[in-house]
Amino acid sequence: MTFAILCSGGDAAGMNPAIKKFVDYSYKLGIKAYLIYEGLEGLIDNKIKEASHKDVAGILHLGGTVLRSSRSKRFFDPLFREQAYNNLKSHDITGLIVLGGDGSFRAMEVFSSEFDINFVGIPSTIDNDIYGTEYCLGVDTALNVIRDSLDKIRDTASSFNRAFIVEVMGRDCGYLGVVSAIVSGAEICVIPEIDLEQEKLEKRLKKEIQNGRRYVLAIVSEGTKKTTEIYQWIQEKLELETRVTILGHIQRGGNPTVYDRMMAFEFTINAVEYLRNHTDSNKVVVFNKGTYSFMDIEEVTSHKYELPQHYIDAINYLD
Ligand code: F6P
Repeated sequence: MTFAILCSGGDAAGMNPAIKKFVDYSYKLGIKAYLIYEGLEGLIDNKIKEASHKDVAGILHLGGTVLRSSRSKRFFDPLFREQAYNNLKSHDITGLIVLGGDGSFRAMEVFSSEFDINFVGIPSTIDNDIYGTEYCLGVDTALNVIRDSLDKIRDTASSFNRAFIVEVMGRDCGYLGVVSAIVSGAEICVIPEIDLEQEKLEKRLKKEIQNGRRYVLAIVSEGTKKTTEIYQWIQEKLELETRVTILGHIQRGGNPTVYDRMMAFEFTINAVEYLRNHTDSNKVVVFNKGTYSFMDIEEVTSHKYELPQHYIDAINYLD
């Protein structure tokens, strides 16, 4: 048996521990392990090499991915997909693990419908927006980076009479936004999934300001594209001098937390075991209620992830 691993799309903390576990565990089982560099671009360009333990030594604690990643445009072209398939065949790769997010899984869905590949996807994206799984690799680390930044912003916010707006990532999903708002005790949370009840909020905050509230913290998810609008609204309606921080790619960095290292460990072992016991997998390992299982790639990509209702309710309590 010969298995390979690649990272595709936005990097996520936890990819390196997963890569290391993949190599160590495969060799333990007597499976040949290959590394594919630069994601689907590297698969097209045959940047594929047999792994040695040395390739993955000392990487477990590092953020990002030592395999590097890409958002491949060429993979949309069937001719390049054929080239990618031929590269897999030329190395006799019989099982493939893909660490990636929504876009990467869509690409894999097309790829696996055209060619007989045996692959398992491991949900890896800070956005936590993949249908069928409660958790994606990298989310806990990103949330801790955001939490740390918010704690620091609160220090300076509490020293002034000001409002602070912090824009977080997440693409079209408000998961990072809502969890960050809950754990930082933000007064305002704006996410794509729900409409902000501005009038109600304005009334409540004005009253609180009259009663002595000195500062306001607002979390805005990038997917709402409302950072400027909220900035103007706070300045005008709440009459607070306002500062904006866009956390940006800082959220993708940092050493994987203990939770992400453990999730990388479990996701990877499950993926390798599945590939070992199947010849035509085309699955994604999903994690729900403490249990790992496997979902067809078509099912994952044909549904939209929805925020758990109790998170939406948590925002409503904020309003
Ligand atoms: O999907 C992960 C993510 O970090 C999103 O939250 C963000 O919108 C996007 O990637 C940024 O992509 P890029 O790194 O290509 O600018």
